[in-house]
Amino acid sequence: MYVAFLLLIVFTDGASSKKVCSYQDVVDYLNLTTDNGVFKLTRPVLDYKHSTMVELDVILYAILAVIEKTQTFVPFIWVTMMWNNERISWDPAQFCGITHITIPRAMLWKPDLFIYEMIQKDDSPHNPYMYVSYDGTITSEEDMKVVSTCKMDVHKFPFDTQRCNITIGSAIHYVNELRLLPSSNSSRATQFSREVMKSQGEWEFLQLSIASYNFTFDDRQWENLIYTFTMKRRPLLHVINFLLPILFFLSLDLASYFIADHRGEKLGFKVTVLLAISVLLLILNEILPSMSNKTPLIATYCIVIFALMLLSLLETILVTYLMEKDSVSQEESRLRDKQEKVKIDNCNAEEKKRLTCCLCICTASDGEKHHELLPVTEEVNNSIQPRESHVLLLILEELKELQKSLDLHLRCRQEVGKSGHWASKINRAFFIFYVTIVSLFLTLIFIEWNT
Ligand SMILES: *[C@@H]1O[C@H](CO)[C@@H](O)[C@H](O)[C@H]1NC(C)=O
Ligand SMILES: *[C@@H]1O[C@H](CO)[C@@H](O)[C@H](O)[C@H]1NC(C)=O
Repeated sequence: MYVAFLLLIVFTDGASSKKVCSYQDVVDYLNLTTDNGVFKLTRPVLDYKHSTMVELDVILYAILAVIEKTQTFVPFIWVTMMWNNERISWDPAQFCGITHITIPRAMLWKPDLFIYEMIQKDDSPHNPYMYVSYDGTITSEEDMKVVSTCKMDVHKFPFDTQRCNITIGSAIHYVNELRLLPSSNSSRATQFSREVMKSQGEWEFLQLSIASYNFTFDDRQWENLIYTFTMKRRPLLHVINFLLPILFFLSLDLASYFIADHRGEKLGFKVTVLLAISVLLLILNEILPSMSNKTPLIATYCIVIFALMLLSLLETILVTYLMEKDSVSQEESRLRDKQEKVKIDNCNAEEKKRLTCCLCICTASDGEKHHELLPVTEEVNNSIQPRESHVLLLILEELKELQKSLDLHLRCRQEVGKSGHWASKINRAFFIFYVTIVSLFLTLIFIEWNT
């Protein structure tokens, strides 16, 4: 009997020292049921004049996309919200020291925060639970893929730095009802984001800065927090894909000056290079937005180089035209020479002597021997008998005619030489001009890109 009493004492003692608690006990204590509207319907303050302080923390996990064409910025962020629910509190000592419970998000009131710039509903899976602390502090953590609009300045593309905002504010609660406070300052948020950053891709994350702003409309005020993400583009891919090929084509165009050309091969080469550049221009059109205020430098770069190459093509056309003209007149003069010979061949047999003389002069026509014809006339006049001299004089008259026509040919040929000469002069002058302009332009545009 005594032993049994002692056992009973030991048993009850063990039971009281090993009290078992579950989260459900806390939930039951709070009367938190799915059909209990007390926790969901209204802002959880006991006095309506109290404002709910929401502490907000945003950390950047990854930059998923930055699309210049549609001016879209897609970061993957981690948002932490903390606020106080005045209806919730328990004594951890009563529940074996339980300080936190997790409950489904739908069971409690949540601040109606939204992102102003968001243009697409977030469809990534949500964390279904919230932390509830014994003093009534509720913590909600969310990962979000935010598809937001961001006004981008592509003036310095691809050496640009972009700044995109994410503005978070309450949809309906005014500033006296719901206050937003950043729980960490800019430098801590930047530091933390750098540490957790998973993928940066094309972009190098520089800074995350936080600013508070009261949005006023019709005497009502809403408090907003503005998170500004600053990031710098890694330009290597665009340099390799775009800037360098254009430079290569430009140097090809420059090098084509040294192509010895008489048949328009140079022209064909230049047209091909110009076509290659226009294909690159099409690619550029796909990257850049059309609503930029300032012309992007890369567009200036392309257009000026395109225009220079066009100019050089036109110059080549001009030079080719001049050379063509040159060769055509040479051809014509050669043809005329031949016709003269044929005429001479048709001379009478009676004028055999004259003919041989003619031929003699004709074969010498390329030289300057015909200039010696006039002194020959004098000599003939002086030394030969009058009767013979009459015939000879006739022949000489004929020869003089021939000399005139030969002189004409010669003058013509000199003119031809002139246009060919002009062509090479224009070519050289244009090449110097081209090289100067190109190096000047490239220097200027790279300085502009660097500042
Ligand atoms: C719990 O809530 C129910 C209604 O949802 C109510 O009838 C009941 O009295 C509440 N109990 C306590 C202890 O507040
Ligand atoms: C916004 O309004 C609240 C309440 O009037 C004030 O305390 C806070 O300083 C204001 N914030 C700014 C950035 O003006």
